[in-house]
Amino acid sequence: MAKYSKPSNIAVIGMEWGDEGKGKIIDFLAEKADVVARFNGGNNAGHTIEVGGDKIVQHLIPSGIYHKNTLNLIGNGLVVDPRVFINEIKNLKKHHIKINHENLIVSQNAHVILPHHIEEDKKAGGKIGTTARGIGPAYTDKAARFGLKVYEFVDETIFKKRFGNEEFYDVYKDYAEAIKPYVNDTSAIMNYAVNHNQKVIFEGAQGTLLDIDHGTYPFVSSSNSTVGGVCTGLGIAPKKVQSVLGVCKAYKTRVGHGPFPTEITSGVGTKIQKLGKEFGATTGRQRRIGWFDALIGKYAVMINGIDSIAITKLDVLTTIKKLQICVGYKYKGKTLKNFTTNMKVLQNCHPVYEELDGWWDDLTKVRSYDKLPLNAKKYLRRIEQLLGVPISIISVGPKREQTIITRPEFLF
Ligand code: GDP
Ligand code: IMO
Ligand code: MG
Repeated sequence: MAKYSKPSNIAVIGMEWGDEGKGKIIDFLAEKADVVARFNGGNNAGHTIEVGGDKIVQHLIPSGIYHKNTLNLIGNGLVVDPRVFINEIKNLKKHHIKINHENLIVSQNAHVILPHHIEEDKKAGGKIGTTARGIGPAYTDKAARFGLKVYEFVDETIFKKRFGNEEFYDVYKDYAEAIKPYVNDTSAIMNYAVNHNQKVIFEGAQGTLLDIDHGTYPFVSSSNSTVGGVCTGLGIAPKKVQSVLGVCKAYKTRVGHGPFPTEITSGVGTKIQKLGKEFGATTGRQRRIGWFDALIGKYAVMINGIDSIAITKLDVLTTIKKLQICVGYKYKGKTLKNFTTNMKVLQNCHPVYEELDGWWDDLTKVRSYDKLPLNAKKYLRRIEQLLGVPISIISVGPKREQTIITRPEFLF
């Protein structure tokens, strides 16, 4: 096997429909990181981190914030709800997390979510099952040249000229004052960090199948959550991105509407939903459950150029007697071996499964690959074979320490 030299920057990308456990993995890796930079989305994301006895869900602020020496950036590719930004800072301070304009910076070029975006999303987002946080309407305004950049938001003259007559003006004027100290030119900071070989994590929100271009359109979010979003959402050249870590759940979940070929409608799905505590971190909605889908995995590897995988929630599958891995979609008499974003196919295909035996041992205290039960190893090996990339991290619980590194050469 070719020798792989350790990367100095890693893009962390969700491989499915979000909620793969990116927050936990980024927090784990961030211990060694100089910078964690979010590149897409907004407070539709919910990234959960369990540190000590605390469980914190962040929607906007990057998952490196729990480490004293890590700089956290919110890139130009995001849509920022100022109210959420301020409340998250307050909440983190309550948890005694150090946070100020030296370890948290927001791009002057990010766009702002305003009250009318949220109202519009509440009215129109039902068909997709959006998070109703105003994400789509804010990106739509950006594309329609009605967007409001953060630097305009914090500039009293510009903001007053545009919104002085709006009823939200007074409240949002105060938000603007509160955000001002955090605003800076993040592209310049990012390029300095990358050019000086600092350890940088590019934090993705959502996942490959929620990408506006490469996902299961129209049941998608409104930004590029695939690796290309790193470049446009942070101002980094493609050749500077050194490695891509795909985060992938040991089974599949989806919140919101849209096709889900391996969705489990029998009682096993309910069992996994309960064991995995699968409720949306942003909206609290019950997540839909499905078997592992190798077609999606291969697709995410292709679209993102994934070097290695972090597989999460393996512990949840303990006590599931028979595990299914989808290896094809039967559609109109043919078996498709590759994923497609064609809605007709996704809605009407029948998954072809390979069945593997499960295991009964509790994995949450396992800290090395050798100690995993044989059937868990077989399950992981089969996934690696089908996706054609190695697994570098196995997560066996929500806490930092519940993490097994199998291929350190892909990590810091
Ligand atoms: P994200 O949006 O990709 O950051 O993921 P979420 O935070 O929305 O959802 C993942 C959920 O799974 C969170 O509640 C995490 O605390 C939890 N989690 C992450 N990794 C593991 C794991 O390996 N095992 C278990 N049991 N829970 C995990
Ligand atoms: P993280 O970063 C899971 C889903 C919504 C809906 C669709 C469009 O936590 O993985 P939007 O409000 O973005 O216009 O909704 O996308 N969605 C997510 N699902 N995890 C997320 O983020 C999501 N962000 C958006 O449920 O189906
Ligand atoms: Mg989430």
